[in-house]
Amino acid sequence: MNPWAEDFPILKETINGKRLVYLDNAATTQKPVPVLKAVDDYYRKANANPHRGLYALSVEATQKYEDARRTVKKFIGARKDEEVLFTRNASESLNLVAYSYGLTFLKEGDEIALPVSEHHSNLVPWQMVAQAKGAKLVYLYPDAQGRLTDAEIGAKITAKTKIVALAHVSNVLGSIYPVKKIVEKAHSVGAVVVLDCAQSIPHYPVNVTELGCDFMAFSGHKMLAPMGIGVLYGKEELLNRMPPFLRGGEMIEYVHEQSATFAPLPQKFEAGTQNVGGAIGLDAAIHYLRNVGYDRIQKTENELLNYTLDGLAEIPHVTVYGGTDNRANRCGVISFNVEGVHPHDVATVLDAAGVAIRAGHHCAQPLMEYLCVNSTCRASLYFYNTKDDIDVFLAALRKVRGWLGLGA
Ligand SMILES: Cc1ncc(COP(=O)(O)O)c(C=O)c1O
Repeated sequence: MNPWAEDFPILKETINGKRLVYLDNAATTQKPVPVLKAVDDYYRKANANPHRGLYALSVEATQKYEDARRTVKKFIGARKDEEVLFTRNASESLNLVAYSYGLTFLKEGDEIALPVSEHHSNLVPWQMVAQAKGAKLVYLYPDAQGRLTDAEIGAKITAKTKIVALAHVSNVLGSIYPVKKIVEKAHSVGAVVVLDCAQSIPHYPVNVTELGCDFMAFSGHKMLAPMGIGVLYGKEELLNRMPPFLRGGEMIEYVHEQSATFAPLPQKFEAGTQNVGGAIGLDAAIHYLRNVGYDRIQKTENELLNYTLDGLAEIPHVTVYGGTDNRANRCGVISFNVEGVHPHDVATVLDAAGVAIRAGHHCAQPLMEYLCVNSTCRASLYFYNTKDDIDVFLAALRKVRGWLGLGA
């Protein structure tokens, strides 16, 4: 029995008659009981539209929503509550920056630098900006160990660069990119840094003030919170200069027939009724993560990562992408292929053994092109996984080629 199963009831479920082995944590994590309870309590006892009502329930909903903002502020080391915006997810956060900052401040000939490994959510919005403004996308290419070298950083971030957009951790290679170094380089040429922490903040502490990034995005659902709540951090001075992204209720100051003025931060960027239940769930998730502790999360995940990579190295016909020699700079996202077997078939065979992994392009098609593959399998770990889980995964993987009539 998984020792975390009391907190994560889904881990007690059976899939295809087998114990669930959930290794798709980079897509979304499971939710612990305190998060489920916080959301349930809110809807049972305190649900009302925040910021609108003058009655007690609405005031309580507003307080809980703003408490959640304060929790996030402390969690990410932001200076002010106003620098924390709630969104639906990392994708919306990144689109907000692209539409509001990118379309306003970029000019023809400017460059946007980004690793080729970026998730589409931190790539396609920048293509839109580049096309609209006549700017250019300049890609940084990781080396065979999944690293962004100093030479690559130095060559691609130049006086023409106005935006550097990058993930803290790649959702395919598991590489942890040298954010501080990249922020220093970007600021030395006057560029702003848009950091996508969707894959890092569930596993590593992120302090936006220490890192110095200008914007930072993440999704609640990848760090134990419900789906539908995300965060954008932005430096106050930049957010104040940016136009609203979405317009409508709640984000205005005065509306006249032909014009409107806008509310101060953070409301300027939070149009319409907000996801109070989601924010409360995120607040509970942050408290839960703090209780588990990042030290414990990292220790468990590093052990599991080494155990998994060592196990994969012993299975013939398996290729792992990204750094296998560079384990200190990677996390528990492991992309691999089995020779002669389509990743979808690998995932289907593993599913029959109760093992949930992802197969496909992982919303990173430019990286797939760079790696010269169409798709990969991806197993991704979280602290509630166990060596037993990995044993079941490796045992099922060993059988894949045999089941498909290929040589072992
Ligand atoms: C690195 C990275 N960025 C952004 C996203 C987008 O997250 P969401 O779908 O929650 O908006 C993902 C999702 O997998 C991701 O891995």
